[in-house]
Amino acid sequence: MSSKIFDLIQEEADRQKYGLEMIPSENYVSEKILKANGSILTNKYSEGFPGRRYYGGNEVIDKIEVYTVNLAKKLFGVPAAFVQSYSGSPANMAVTMAVCEPGDVVMGLALSSGGHLTHGANLNFSSIFYKAVNYKVGDDWKIDFTELGALAKKHKPKLIWVGTTAYPFKLDYKKFRKIADMVGAALVADCSHITGLIISGAHESPVPYVDIITTTTHKTLRGPRGAMILVTDRGLKKDPEIKGKIERAIIPGIQGGPHNHQTAAIAIALEEASLPSFKKYGVQIAKNAAVLAKELGTVSETHLILLSLTKYGYGLGYQAQYALEEAGITVNKNTIPGEPASPFYPSGVRLGTPALTTRGMKEKDMVKIAGWIKRVLEEIRGLDLPKEQEKRKDFLKEVKIKLHQNQNLKQIKKEVAAFAGKFPVPGIG
Ligand SMILES: Cc1ncc(COP(=O)(O)O)c(C=O)c1O
Repeated sequence: MSSKIFDLIQEEADRQKYGLEMIPSENYVSEKILKANGSILTNKYSEGFPGRRYYGGNEVIDKIEVYTVNLAKKLFGVPAAFVQSYSGSPANMAVTMAVCEPGDVVMGLALSSGGHLTHGANLNFSSIFYKAVNYKVGDDWKIDFTELGALAKKHKPKLIWVGTTAYPFKLDYKKFRKIADMVGAALVADCSHITGLIISGAHESPVPYVDIITTTTHKTLRGPRGAMILVTDRGLKKDPEIKGKIERAIIPGIQGGPHNHQTAAIAIALEEASLPSFKKYGVQIAKNAAVLAKELGTVSETHLILLSLTKYGYGLGYQAQYALEEAGITVNKNTIPGEPASPFYPSGVRLGTPALTTRGMKEKDMVKIAGWIKRVLEEIRGLDLPKEQEKRKDFLKEVKIKLHQNQNLKQIKKEVAAFAGKFPVPGIG
């Protein structure tokens, strides 16, 4: 088999093996998942739901989807599950459409406080077609429940999102429930980032408190790209029609044919997540994050760390991401609460441990990795973002050239590659 693409896949495999993948929303899936995801199931069209398809030839596909739905229901202890959403964003769109009419008020954590785009961010469908109200974190970087309660009373949302994408603390679902009940809102947990932690008991489950849950399947759950929507007993009681509403939002509301290869791969991820070894995995993710955070001078109660770089200088997130990449460590630049620089050139980085933990790394390895990260960050001292906006582009171009030639970063990259290469990656070796 030859194609330029296979050469490029090999190049990417080397990057994944000899680097440290620390973007907290990423992971390495098992060989079984890779196989199902790359299978002939991609050939089939099956618009509709099991037993109710628009196309013929779906006997086997029906069995696959029913099996996947049943695994999801059992693993989470919920009465209904939907597994056709192409990814997390369309799952969130489907839930919003199922719960709200256009123009209704939707509340979610602000993007700048660690929320997700689909929870009411500017330019996203959630603020274009709905009236979005954002709550925020306070000076301690934790969700400000006083503000959240006041906003809910004032705006009477139909839906409140509880879910985060750059938030290192545990979520208190009980407090959210109280506020949702106060105003009669549907409470929806978007657990995308922490589903693996919830399954392993390293984070409280939202099931007793919320009406609906959405989750991507490709983050801490360690499955293929995709998403699930789960309805709790409580959600079903609150709205007995909700199942049909979610189905109609998925199709014809948003999507056409489901990605059956993806559904099958989700089933394997759910099988794997049902094993005792997965519990250990989830607990280890959190232990690793706590050690890494401590070594970097901050805290994490989850799988991720939001690291402020203000002690190194002004607006250094982009420079840090690039310098770390030059050293074989992949993270992403991120705003910090009360961002002092700019959303495009922010003051922090976001990093996490799910992928490293899949490779078998433990606490002592986190100490080593923190050492490399700190050495890299020393190299960006003095590379502060210019305060004048018009100077930034040229400045960052020069910074990249400088960092690319930096001999200390080249040395760290060698050490990182020698270390990372010892930990196998599923599907790569
Ligand atoms: C909390 C949360 N919800 C939803 C999503 C969207 O998922 P996707 O990128 O698969 O659309 C993300 C992705 O980062 C997320 O962090």
